[in-house]
Amino acid sequence: MTKYKIITIIIILFISQFVKADEGMWIPILLKKYNIEDMKKKGFKLNAEDIYSVNNASMKDAVMIFGGGCTAELISDKGLIITNHHCGFSRIQAHSSLKNDYLTNGFWAMSNKEELPNPGLTVTFLEYMEDVTKKVLANVNDNMDEAERQMIIAAEIIKIKAEASKNGKFVAKVKPFFYGNEYYLFVSKVYRDVRLVGAPPSSIGKFGGDTDNWMWPRHTGDFSMFRIYADKNNEPANYSPDNIPYKPKKHFPISIKGVKKGDFTLVFGYPGRTQEYLTSYAIKMISKDENPHQIKIRQMKIDVMSNDMNNDPAVRIKYAAKYARVSNYWKKWIGENKGLERLNAIQKKKNFEKKFTKWANSNQNRKNTYGALLPKYKSIYDKLTPYALANAYFYETLYTMEIVRLSSIFVKLTRLYEKSDEKKIKKTVESVRRSVKGFYKDYNKSTDMKIFKQALKMYYDNVDKKFHPALFNLVEKKFKGDFDKYTKYLYKKSFIANEKKVYTFLDKFKLSHIKKIKKDPAYIFYGDALDIYYKEINPKSRELHQKVEKLNRTYVKGQRLMLKDKVFYPDANSTLRVAYGQVDDYKPKDGVKYLHYTTLEGIMEKDNPNIYDYKVPKKLKELFIKKDYGQYAENGQIHVCFTASNHTTGGNSGSPVINGDGHLIGVNFDRCWEGTMSDIMFDPERCRNISIDIRYALFIIDKFAGAGYLLNEMTIIK
Ligand code: ARG
Ligand code: GLU
Repeated sequence: MTKYKIITIIIILFISQFVKADEGMWIPILLKKYNIEDMKKKGFKLNAEDIYSVNNASMKDAVMIFGGGCTAELISDKGLIITNHHCGFSRIQAHSSLKNDYLTNGFWAMSNKEELPNPGLTVTFLEYMEDVTKKVLANVNDNMDEAERQMIIAAEIIKIKAEASKNGKFVAKVKPFFYGNEYYLFVSKVYRDVRLVGAPPSSIGKFGGDTDNWMWPRHTGDFSMFRIYADKNNEPANYSPDNIPYKPKKHFPISIKGVKKGDFTLVFGYPGRTQEYLTSYAIKMISKDENPHQIKIRQMKIDVMSNDMNNDPAVRIKYAAKYARVSNYWKKWIGENKGLERLNAIQKKKNFEKKFTKWANSNQNRKNTYGALLPKYKSIYDKLTPYALANAYFYETLYTMEIVRLSSIFVKLTRLYEKSDEKKIKKTVESVRRSVKGFYKDYNKSTDMKIFKQALKMYYDNVDKKFHPALFNLVEKKFKGDFDKYTKYLYKKSFIANEKKVYTFLDKFKLSHIKKIKKDPAYIFYGDALDIYYKEINPKSRELHQKVEKLNRTYVKGQRLMLKDKVFYPDANSTLRVAYGQVDDYKPKDGVKYLHYTTLEGIMEKDNPNIYDYKVPKKLKELFIKKDYGQYAENGQIHVCFTASNHTTGGNSGSPVINGDGHLIGVNFDRCWEGTMSDIMFDPERCRNISIDIRYALFIIDKFAGAGYLLNEMTIIK
């Protein structure tokens, strides 16, 4: 070996230590500077401008925030977009009735006229983004106290946003990156007329349900389609029958050439929140304190709900969405904790902290700024932990009791006063009636009571006395600490907890009846819960969190100084990011290796008419038997889902998965259970995102639903 070769190898070894495979959620405008070389090496054939450009049409013009928390992408030049079934779920549900049960049967508009409007649903396009760090931080310095600093920053941000919004034409947001070391401006356009075009039945779109959620091998056809409408000038408009399909600057061509292991993949979307630069103290608090308690509480709720749902089909329908919500993060936290444990994450962070401290202390200047950082963290986390726990308990028990949501509906009535005129009173009563109806539609009292009494008891047993709501006094004195008795008393005494009595109350409502609301035990419970939160839990925990934020700002700054050659990516914060990786399989545990794809065959293997999550529709079975696969098969198989090594998180649902040619090959919808700790620590060996193979979506549209005409407006690459 020549000396030159040895040096090269040493350099490569040195670099590869930093370019950890596939970790990272990158900022689109910085790809050119930091990532594009690496991306090209890994198989990307286009340029950074093809992903993000202000002057020319680029991929960013085809990617949107869908509703509040998902991503969607354009797949035709007539405004057609695709996202996940679970992202469109509530919209599909809203259009469903017993007569037209689109959740069960699916929905396909056979022409533009049949597409269904969705009041309140928006899609948000990014027009441009800009680094505004200099402007935002122009008037702050390191000696300022934190409150002053934040005030100055807030004032700058208001100015920047006002200018960028161009009198309301755009929505402008400024967000902190790296805990406030940097700030970016995001200017977007929001379209408000978005119509439902198609959705498979839940037996496809939600196949596997919560049983398979967060898991591989997966067979969920998790997609739905919508269309954006605009006014005659292609600009955003409220719903109107006169609106026309939006003409996009760019839409994704769809490749049906197939997905192979090792293929380059790019996920372009809106990841919500990650915390990659935490200290060992923070990870300890999350994994040893918050997660275990949250898991325990949700486990109790899941046990109660699933028991009641199994015993009564009506309860199953009523609690389907609630169950899905509770179970989603319950399962995620279990996976996250296992993953952190297996990675030895706390120890890894401790080792790093040792190195950091050594670096900090090696020079007096640094020592002044960073030397005392970790001991400060320790003392704050010691104080924060009981508050974090109380906070977790508050949000998982008191605040999320169904009776609290119900009681909160009545606040509107208590705010009426003597001078409120008849019209206003009537309007308020009617709006309360509507909300109450909506609440009771999906409510089962005995399920709620079981959860209520156990949740309260858990709070009582596990949370420090100083965070106990006033009503615990009553439970101790009047009910000798028996939460069962208290629960029975409350649900019997409360008219709010009695649907019939509520309607009678509303029918006869007079201002003098407000007293009755205020004396209702459910309403008192609600008030007590908020009271303890706003008096005892929230102020101090906010104060401590602000202190942590400040330390984080310094710590991340120090980490970036210390590891000068490493390119840091900022934590996810619901802004547009690029994650790139490759189609890849993984080893979930010793002795087991998973393939990177699943097929229709697996759906037939899981088929079980007795298990709700695994009922396969008859039509799909027929297609399987006839092997009526058209152009969508690969070696005689329909591929359903695939795994890749992209770094994703919640919010990436519905994100396009794009190959090296810039073509759409899948729609992201989940992560593998063994890799769910990637929000805190990424493991290239086990962190995999899960996507639906776009060919499965097309197969369902064309062969299963007979809506193949939709393919005519797509750009299909064969
Ligand atoms: N785990 C995915 C996500 O975090 C899918 C959730 C929806 N599906 C479900 N079965 N609950 O959003
Ligand atoms: N299902 C998640 C979402 O709705 C994506 C899964 C994840 O957390 O990676 O955003």
